[in-house]
Amino acid sequence: MRWPRSLRYDLSLVLALGAVITLVLLSLHAGPMASLETERRQGAPETSEAPGAPAEPPARPAPAPCLPNTSLAAHPDFATQPAHVRDFLLYRHCRDFPTLQEPPAAKCAPPVFLLLAIKSSPANYERRDIVRRTWGQERQVQGATLRRLFLVGTAADPHEATKVNRLLALEAREHRDILQWDFHDSFFNLTLKQVLFLEWQKTRCPNASFLLNGDDDVFAHTDNMVTFLRGLDPERHLFVGHLIQGVGPIRVPWSKYFVPRLVTPDEHYPPYCGGGGFLLSRFTARALQRAAPALDLLPIDDVFLGQCLRHQGLRPASHSGVRTAGLRAPSARLSSFDPCYYRELLLVHRFLPYETLLMWNALGQPDLACGRRTQVY
Ligand SMILES: *[C@@H]1O[C@H](CO)[C@@H](O)[C@H](O)[C@H]1NC(C)=O
Ligand SMILES: *[C@@H]1O[C@H](CO)[C@@H](O)[C@H](O)[C@H]1NC(C)=O
Ligand SMILES: *[C@@H]1O[C@H](CO)[C@@H](O)[C@H](O)[C@H]1NC(C)=O
Repeated sequence: MRWPRSLRYDLSLVLALGAVITLVLLSLHAGPMASLETERRQGAPETSEAPGAPAEPPARPAPAPCLPNTSLAAHPDFATQPAHVRDFLLYRHCRDFPTLQEPPAAKCAPPVFLLLAIKSSPANYERRDIVRRTWGQERQVQGATLRRLFLVGTAADPHEATKVNRLLALEAREHRDILQWDFHDSFFNLTLKQVLFLEWQKTRCPNASFLLNGDDDVFAHTDNMVTFLRGLDPERHLFVGHLIQGVGPIRVPWSKYFVPRLVTPDEHYPPYCGGGGFLLSRFTARALQRAAPALDLLPIDDVFLGQCLRHQGLRPASHSGVRTAGLRAPSARLSSFDPCYYRELLLVHRFLPYETLLMWNALGQPDLACGRRTQVY
Protein backbone atom coordinates (compact mmCIF):
# COMPACT_ATOMS: atom_id res chain seq x y z
CA MET A 1 0.00 0.00 0.00
CA ARG A 2 1.26 3.50 -0.76
CA TRP A 3 0.48 6.32 1.67
CA PRO A 4 1.17 10.05 1.28
CA ARG A 5 4.39 10.91 3.09
CA SER A 6 2.80 13.11 5.82
CA LEU A 7 0.16 10.53 6.65
CA ARG A 8 2.81 7.82 7.01
CA TYR A 9 4.65 10.03 9.54
CA ASP A 10 1.46 10.54 11.57
CA LEU A 11 0.74 6.82 11.56
CA SER A 12 4.12 5.83 12.91
CA LEU A 13 3.75 8.42 15.67
CA VAL A 14 0.42 6.93 16.70
CA LEU A 15 1.86 3.40 16.64
CA ALA A 16 4.86 4.40 18.73
CA LEU A 17 2.63 6.12 21.29
CA GLY A 18 0.37 3.06 21.46
CA ALA A 19 3.35 0.79 22.03
CA VAL A 20 4.63 2.96 24.90
CA ILE A 21 1.23 3.00 26.61
CA THR A 22 0.89 -0.76 26.23
CA LEU A 23 4.32 -1.32 27.75
CA VAL A 24 3.54 0.91 30.74
CA LEU A 25 0.25 -0.87 31.36
CA LEU A 26 1.90 -4.28 31.07
CA SER A 27 4.67 -3.43 33.51
CA LEU A 28 2.07 -2.28 36.04
CA HIS A 29 0.39 -5.69 35.89
CA ALA A 30 3.37 -7.93 35.44
CA GLY A 31 4.36 -8.02 39.12
CA PRO A 32 1.17 -9.24 40.74
CA MET A 33 0.33 -11.57 37.82
CA ALA A 34 3.68 -13.30 37.95
CA SER A 35 3.56 -13.90 41.67
CA LEU A 36 0.04 -15.32 41.41
CA GLU A 37 1.31 -17.82 38.89
CA THR A 38 4.15 -18.85 41.21
CA GLU A 39 1.78 -19.32 44.12
CA ARG A 40 -0.44 -21.59 42.06
CA ARG A 41 2.50 -23.76 41.10
CA GLN A 42 3.70 -24.02 44.65
CA GLY A 43 0.20 -24.78 45.95
CA ALA A 44 -0.39 -27.67 43.54
CA PRO A 45 2.76 -29.74 43.05
CA GLU A 46 3.06 -30.86 39.46
CA THR A 47 3.38 -34.49 38.53
CA SER A 48 6.62 -35.41 36.83
CA GLU A 49 4.78 -36.59 33.73
CA ALA A 50 4.84 -34.80 30.41
CA PRO A 51 1.71 -32.86 29.46
CA GLY A 52 -0.90 -35.18 28.07
CA ALA A 53 0.25 -38.13 30.15
CA PRO A 54 -2.53 -40.33 31.50
CA ALA A 55 -4.17 -39.23 34.73
CA GLU A 56 -2.44 -41.04 37.54
CA PRO A 57 -4.28 -42.56 40.46
CA PRO A 58 -3.90 -40.53 43.66
CA ALA A 59 -0.26 -41.01 44.61
CA ARG A 60 0.48 -43.25 47.56
CA PRO A 61 3.13 -41.71 49.77
CA ALA A 62 6.37 -43.10 48.35
CA PRO A 63 7.96 -45.66 50.68
CA ALA A 64 11.19 -44.52 52.25
CA PRO A 65 14.07 -45.54 49.98
CA CYS A 66 15.40 -48.94 50.96
CA LEU A 67 18.92 -48.61 52.33
CA PRO A 68 21.75 -50.97 51.35
CA ASN A 69 22.71 -53.63 53.86
CA THR A 70 26.27 -52.48 54.39
CA SER A 71 27.05 -55.09 57.04
CA LEU A 72 27.53 -57.52 54.14
CA ALA A 73 30.42 -55.47 52.81
CA ALA A 74 32.48 -56.61 55.80
CA HIS A 75 32.55 -60.17 54.44
CA PRO A 76 36.08 -60.99 53.15
CA ASP A 77 34.68 -62.28 49.81
CA PHE A 78 32.44 -59.28 49.16
CA ALA A 79 34.92 -56.96 47.47
CA THR A 80 36.00 -59.54 44.92
CA GLN A 81 32.46 -60.13 43.58
CA PRO A 82 31.35 -58.71 40.21
CA ALA A 83 29.57 -55.35 40.54
CA HIS A 84 26.08 -56.71 39.79
CA VAL A 85 26.51 -59.40 42.46
CA ARG A 86 27.58 -56.84 45.06
CA ASP A 87 24.61 -54.72 44.04
CA PHE A 88 22.27 -57.68 44.39
CA LEU A 89 23.61 -58.53 47.85
CA LEU A 90 23.33 -54.98 49.14
CA TYR A 91 19.69 -54.59 48.05
CA ARG A 92 18.49 -58.17 48.35
CA HIS A 93 16.19 -57.38 51.28
CA CYS A 94 14.37 -54.56 49.42
CA ARG A 95 10.93 -55.70 48.27
CA ASP A 96 8.66 -52.71 48.58
CA PHE A 97 8.61 -50.54 45.47
CA PRO A 98 5.83 -48.21 44.33
CA THR A 99 4.10 -48.75 40.99
CA LEU A 100 4.59 -46.13 38.29
CA GLN A 101 1.97 -47.49 35.90
CA GLU A 102 -0.91 -49.82 36.59
CA PRO A 103 -3.62 -51.17 34.31
CA PRO A 104 -7.21 -50.11 35.03
CA ALA A 105 -9.32 -52.38 37.24
CA ALA A 106 -11.22 -53.48 34.11
CA LYS A 107 -8.14 -55.50 33.16
CA CYS A 108 -9.20 -58.18 35.58
CA ALA A 109 -12.97 -57.86 35.32
CA PRO A 110 -14.15 -61.46 35.59
CA PRO A 111 -14.06 -63.85 33.97
CA VAL A 112 -10.36 -63.81 32.99
CA PHE A 113 -9.37 -67.28 31.86
CA LEU A 114 -5.71 -66.70 30.99
CA LEU A 115 -3.67 -63.70 32.12
CA LEU A 116 -0.53 -63.21 30.06
CA ALA A 117 2.05 -61.62 32.37
CA ILE A 118 5.06 -60.87 30.23
CA LYS A 119 8.35 -59.64 31.63
CA SER A 120 9.74 -56.88 29.43
CA SER A 121 12.62 -54.42 29.75
CA PRO A 122 11.60 -50.76 29.51
CA ALA A 123 13.28 -50.14 26.16
CA ASN A 124 11.86 -53.27 24.46
CA TYR A 125 9.11 -51.34 22.72
CA GLU A 126 9.26 -53.32 19.46
CA ARG A 127 8.84 -56.63 21.27
CA ARG A 128 5.80 -55.41 23.20
CA ASP A 129 4.36 -53.98 20.03
CA ILE A 130 4.59 -57.26 18.14
CA VAL A 131 3.23 -59.30 21.06
CA ARG A 132 0.21 -56.98 21.19
CA ARG A 133 -0.47 -57.54 17.54
CA THR A 134 0.06 -61.31 17.50
CA TRP A 135 -0.20 -64.00 20.16
CA GLY A 136 -0.77 -61.55 23.01
CA GLN A 137 -3.91 -59.97 21.55
CA GLU A 138 -6.64 -59.55 24.14
CA ARG A 139 -9.34 -61.71 22.67
CA GLN A 140 -11.68 -64.64 23.18
CA VAL A 141 -10.31 -68.07 22.34
CA GLN A 142 -12.95 -70.80 22.29
CA GLY A 143 -15.02 -68.57 24.53
CA ALA A 144 -12.16 -68.01 27.03
CA THR A 145 -10.98 -64.46 27.81
CA LEU A 146 -7.29 -63.59 27.38
CA ARG A 147 -5.79 -60.53 29.08
CA ARG A 148 -2.29 -59.11 28.62
CA LEU A 149 0.13 -57.32 30.95
CA PHE A 150 3.75 -56.29 30.56
CA LEU A 151 5.84 -56.29 33.73
CA VAL A 152 8.52 -53.62 33.69
CA GLY A 153 10.87 -51.74 36.00
CA THR A 154 12.79 -48.65 35.08
CA ALA A 155 16.25 -47.71 33.84
CA ALA A 156 19.16 -47.30 36.24
CA ASP A 157 20.48 -44.22 34.43
CA PRO A 158 18.36 -41.15 35.38
CA HIS A 159 18.26 -39.65 31.85
CA GLU A 160 17.33 -42.98 30.35
CA ALA A 161 14.75 -43.46 33.12
CA THR A 162 13.03 -40.16 32.26
CA LYS A 163 12.78 -41.27 28.65
CA VAL A 164 11.55 -44.82 29.19
CA ASN A 165 9.12 -43.71 31.89
CA ARG A 166 7.54 -41.37 29.34
CA LEU A 167 7.43 -44.14 26.78
CA LEU A 168 5.73 -46.46 29.24
CA ALA A 169 3.26 -43.74 30.26
CA LEU A 170 2.35 -43.40 26.58
CA GLU A 171 1.96 -47.14 26.13
CA ALA A 172 -0.10 -47.37 29.32
CA ARG A 173 -2.47 -44.71 28.00
CA GLU A 174 -2.79 -46.29 24.60
CA HIS A 175 -2.87 -50.01 25.49
CA ARG A 176 -3.64 -50.19 29.25
CA ASP A 177 -1.31 -53.15 29.58
CA ILE A 178 1.66 -51.75 31.55
CA LEU A 179 2.46 -52.71 35.12
CA GLN A 180 5.58 -50.78 36.04
CA TRP A 181 7.44 -50.46 39.32
CA ASP A 182 10.09 -48.00 40.34
CA PHE A 183 13.08 -50.31 40.56
CA HIS A 184 16.06 -50.89 38.29
CA ASP A 185 15.12 -53.38 35.63
CA SER A 186 18.16 -55.66 35.45
CA PHE A 187 18.77 -59.37 35.01
CA PHE A 188 19.47 -59.87 38.71
CA ASN A 189 16.29 -57.99 39.62
CA LEU A 190 14.00 -60.35 37.67
CA THR A 191 13.14 -62.23 40.84
CA LEU A 192 12.11 -58.96 42.45
CA LYS A 193 9.88 -58.33 39.42
CA GLN A 194 8.34 -61.79 39.74
CA VAL A 195 7.68 -61.33 43.46
CA LEU A 196 6.17 -57.86 42.96
CA PHE A 197 3.92 -59.25 40.24
CA LEU A 198 2.64 -62.04 42.50
CA GLU A 199 1.98 -59.47 45.23
CA TRP A 200 0.03 -57.33 42.77
CA GLN A 201 -1.90 -60.27 41.39
CA LYS A 202 -2.89 -61.36 44.88
CA THR A 203 -5.05 -58.28 45.39
CA ARG A 204 -5.75 -57.00 41.86
CA CYS A 205 -6.21 -60.10 39.75
CA PRO A 206 -6.82 -63.03 42.13
CA ASN A 207 -9.62 -64.53 40.08
CA ALA A 208 -7.83 -65.14 36.79
CA SER A 209 -8.06 -68.91 36.33
CA PHE A 210 -4.58 -69.38 34.83
CA LEU A 211 -1.43 -67.34 34.30
CA LEU A 212 1.22 -67.44 31.65
CA ASN A 213 4.45 -65.96 32.99
CA GLY A 214 7.05 -65.45 30.33
CA ASP A 215 9.52 -63.29 28.46
CA ASP A 216 8.80 -60.85 25.65
CA ASP A 217 10.93 -62.78 23.15
CA VAL A 218 8.90 -65.97 23.07
CA PHE A 219 6.29 -67.22 20.70
CA ALA A 220 3.36 -68.38 22.78
CA HIS A 221 0.72 -70.40 20.99
CA THR A 222 -2.14 -68.98 23.02
CA ASP A 223 -4.81 -70.97 21.14
CA ASN A 224 -3.09 -74.24 22.04
CA MET A 225 -2.69 -73.05 25.62
CA VAL A 226 -6.42 -72.50 25.95
CA THR A 227 -7.08 -75.97 24.48
CA PHE A 228 -4.66 -77.46 27.01
CA LEU A 229 -6.00 -75.53 30.01
CA ARG A 230 -9.71 -75.80 29.35
CA GLY A 231 -10.12 -79.22 30.88
CA LEU A 232 -8.16 -78.30 34.02
CA ASP A 233 -9.38 -77.05 37.39
CA PRO A 234 -7.86 -73.67 38.37
CA GLU A 235 -8.31 -74.64 42.01
CA ARG A 236 -5.81 -77.49 41.66
CA HIS A 237 -2.03 -77.31 41.49
CA LEU A 238 -0.61 -76.63 38.02
CA PHE A 239 2.89 -75.43 37.18
CA VAL A 240 4.13 -76.57 33.78
CA GLY A 241 6.84 -75.59 31.41
CA HIS A 242 10.27 -76.72 30.36
CA LEU A 243 11.30 -78.75 33.42
CA ILE A 244 14.90 -78.47 34.57
CA GLN A 245 16.21 -80.84 37.27
CA GLY A 246 19.45 -81.92 38.82
CA VAL A 247 21.32 -78.66 38.31
CA GLY A 248 22.93 -76.28 40.76
CA PRO A 249 24.43 -72.81 40.91
CA ILE A 250 26.97 -71.89 38.25
CA ARG A 251 30.12 -70.87 40.08
CA VAL A 252 32.11 -69.46 37.16
CA PRO A 253 32.23 -65.67 37.49
CA TRP A 254 32.00 -64.86 33.76
CA SER A 255 28.66 -66.61 33.33
CA LYS A 256 25.48 -64.54 33.14
CA TYR A 257 24.05 -67.03 35.65
CA PHE A 258 26.98 -66.88 38.08
CA VAL A 259 25.76 -67.28 41.65
CA PRO A 260 28.57 -67.26 44.22
CA ARG A 261 28.50 -69.04 47.57
CA LEU A 262 28.01 -65.68 49.20
CA VAL A 263 24.55 -65.57 47.56
CA THR A 264 23.67 -69.22 48.22
CA PRO A 265 25.82 -71.96 49.71
CA ASP A 266 23.43 -74.65 48.31
CA GLU A 267 25.00 -76.80 45.61
CA HIS A 268 21.66 -78.01 44.24
CA TYR A 269 18.67 -76.20 42.85
CA PRO A 270 15.23 -77.76 43.28
CA PRO A 271 13.36 -78.76 40.09
CA TYR A 272 12.07 -75.69 38.27
CA CYS A 273 10.66 -74.59 34.93
CA GLY A 274 12.72 -72.45 32.55
CA GLY A 275 11.73 -68.79 32.91
CA GLY A 276 11.08 -68.22 29.19
CA GLY A 277 7.48 -69.22 29.78
CA PHE A 278 5.42 -71.40 32.10
CA LEU A 279 1.76 -71.86 32.95
CA LEU A 280 0.25 -71.96 36.41
CA SER A 281 -3.17 -72.10 38.03
CA ARG A 282 -4.51 -69.55 40.49
CA PHE A 283 -4.23 -72.21 43.20
CA THR A 284 -0.50 -72.38 42.59
CA ALA A 285 -0.18 -68.59 42.31
CA ARG A 286 -1.57 -68.35 45.85
CA ALA A 287 0.91 -70.97 47.05
CA LEU A 288 3.79 -68.96 45.55
CA GLN A 289 2.46 -65.80 47.21
CA ARG A 290 2.63 -67.54 50.57
CA ALA A 291 6.13 -68.87 50.02
CA ALA A 292 7.88 -65.83 48.55
CA PRO A 293 7.96 -63.67 51.71
CA ALA A 294 9.47 -66.56 53.67
CA LEU A 295 12.49 -67.01 51.38
CA ASP A 296 15.57 -64.91 50.65
CA LEU A 297 15.54 -63.67 47.07
CA LEU A 298 17.75 -65.64 44.69
CA PRO A 299 18.83 -63.66 41.61
CA ILE A 300 17.69 -66.36 39.15
CA ASP A 301 13.93 -65.89 38.93
CA ASP A 302 12.88 -69.29 37.63
CA VAL A 303 14.97 -71.12 40.23
CA PHE A 304 13.47 -68.94 42.94
CA LEU A 305 9.97 -70.09 41.90
CA GLY A 306 11.23 -73.67 42.12
CA GLN A 307 12.30 -72.91 45.69
CA CYS A 308 8.86 -71.45 46.42
CA LEU A 309 7.15 -74.58 45.08
CA ARG A 310 9.40 -76.80 47.19
CA HIS A 311 8.62 -74.66 50.24
CA GLN A 312 4.93 -75.40 49.66
CA GLY A 313 5.45 -79.11 49.03
CA LEU A 314 4.57 -78.73 45.33
CA ARG A 315 6.40 -79.84 42.20
CA PRO A 316 6.74 -78.29 38.76
CA ALA A 317 5.90 -80.49 35.79
CA SER A 318 7.06 -80.82 32.24
CA HIS A 319 5.00 -80.02 29.18
CA SER A 320 6.63 -81.20 25.96
CA GLY A 321 5.07 -78.23 24.14
CA VAL A 322 7.23 -75.71 25.99
CA ARG A 323 10.68 -75.24 24.46
CA THR A 324 12.65 -72.59 26.28
CA ALA A 325 16.09 -74.06 25.68
CA GLY A 326 16.21 -73.42 21.97
CA LEU A 327 14.39 -75.44 19.39
CA ARG A 328 15.63 -78.51 17.63
CA ALA A 329 13.84 -79.32 14.44
CA PRO A 330 12.10 -82.68 14.72
CA SER A 331 13.70 -83.91 11.51
CA ALA A 332 16.05 -82.81 8.79
CA ARG A 333 13.14 -82.29 6.44
CA LEU A 334 11.13 -80.13 8.84
CA SER A 335 12.66 -76.72 9.56
CA SER A 336 12.42 -75.46 13.13
CA PHE A 337 10.55 -72.50 11.69
CA ASP A 338 7.91 -74.65 10.03
CA PRO A 339 4.48 -73.57 11.27
CA CYS A 340 3.30 -77.18 11.12
CA TYR A 341 5.73 -77.95 13.91
CA TYR A 342 4.29 -75.12 15.97
CA ARG A 343 0.79 -76.40 15.71
CA GLU A 344 1.66 -78.88 18.42
CA LEU A 345 3.60 -76.51 20.64
CA LEU A 346 2.67 -74.17 23.45
CA LEU A 347 5.69 -71.90 23.63
CA VAL A 348 9.07 -71.45 22.02
CA HIS A 349 11.83 -69.16 23.26
CA ARG A 350 13.89 -66.66 21.25
CA PHE A 351 11.88 -65.15 18.49
CA LEU A 352 12.74 -61.91 16.76
CA PRO A 353 9.78 -59.55 16.34
CA TYR A 354 9.55 -60.18 12.59
CA GLU A 355 9.65 -63.94 13.11
CA THR A 356 6.78 -63.65 15.56
CA LEU A 357 4.74 -61.78 12.96
CA LEU A 358 5.53 -64.35 10.25
CA MET A 359 4.69 -67.29 12.47
CA TRP A 360 1.46 -65.75 13.72
CA ASN A 361 0.46 -65.06 10.17
CA ALA A 362 1.36 -68.53 8.92
CA LEU A 363 -0.48 -70.28 11.76
CA GLY A 364 -3.59 -68.30 10.91
CA GLN A 365 -3.66 -69.49 7.29
CA PRO A 366 -6.74 -71.66 6.84
CA ASP A 367 -5.00 -73.67 4.13
CA LEU A 368 -1.96 -74.56 6.24
CA ALA A 369 -1.44 -78.06 4.86
CA CYS A 370 0.62 -79.90 7.42
CA GLY A 371 -0.29 -83.41 6.39
CA ARG A 372 1.67 -82.87 3.20
CA ARG A 373 4.64 -81.42 5.11
CA THR A 374 4.96 -78.46 2.82
CA GLN A 375 7.52 -75.88 3.74
CA VAL A 376 5.90 -72.48 4.18
CA TYR A 377 9.23 -70.69 4.66
C1 LIG B 1 22.15 -57.68 56.43
O1 LIG B 1 23.15 -58.68 56.26
C2 LIG B 1 23.44 -59.43 57.43
C3 LIG B 1 24.63 -60.31 57.14
O2 LIG B 1 24.37 -61.20 56.07
C4 LIG B 1 22.21 -60.19 57.85
O3 LIG B 1 22.47 -60.94 59.00
C5 LIG B 1 21.06 -59.20 58.07
O4 LIG B 1 19.88 -59.92 58.35
C6 LIG B 1 20.85 -58.34 56.85
N1 LIG B 1 19.87 -57.30 57.13
C7 LIG B 1 18.76 -57.16 56.39
C8 LIG B 1 17.91 -55.99 56.71
O5 LIG B 1 18.47 -57.93 55.49
C1 LIG C 1 17.42 -53.72 41.97
O1 LIG C 1 16.64 -52.55 42.08
C2 LIG C 1 16.96 -51.74 43.20
C3 LIG C 1 15.99 -50.58 43.22
O2 LIG C 1 16.04 -49.84 42.06
C4 LIG C 1 18.39 -51.26 43.08
O3 LIG C 1 18.73 -50.51 44.22
C5 LIG C 1 19.32 -52.45 42.96
O4 LIG C 1 20.61 -51.99 42.72
C6 LIG C 1 18.89 -53.36 41.83
N1 LIG C 1 19.68 -54.57 41.87
C7 LIG C 1 20.29 -55.06 40.80
C8 LIG C 1 21.06 -56.32 41.00
O5 LIG C 1 20.22 -54.54 39.69
C1 LIG D 1 -12.83 -62.69 43.14
O1 LIG D 1 -13.86 -63.62 43.35
C2 LIG D 1 -14.39 -63.60 44.66
C3 LIG D 1 -15.35 -64.75 44.81
O2 LIG D 1 -16.18 -64.86 43.67
C4 LIG D 1 -15.03 -62.23 44.92
O3 LIG D 1 -15.55 -62.15 46.21
C5 LIG D 1 -13.96 -61.15 44.73
O4 LIG D 1 -14.54 -59.86 44.85
C6 LIG D 1 -13.29 -61.27 43.36
N1 LIG D 1 -12.16 -60.35 43.34
C7 LIG D 1 -11.91 -59.54 42.33
C8 LIG D 1 -10.73 -58.61 42.48
O5 LIG D 1 -12.55 -59.54 41.28
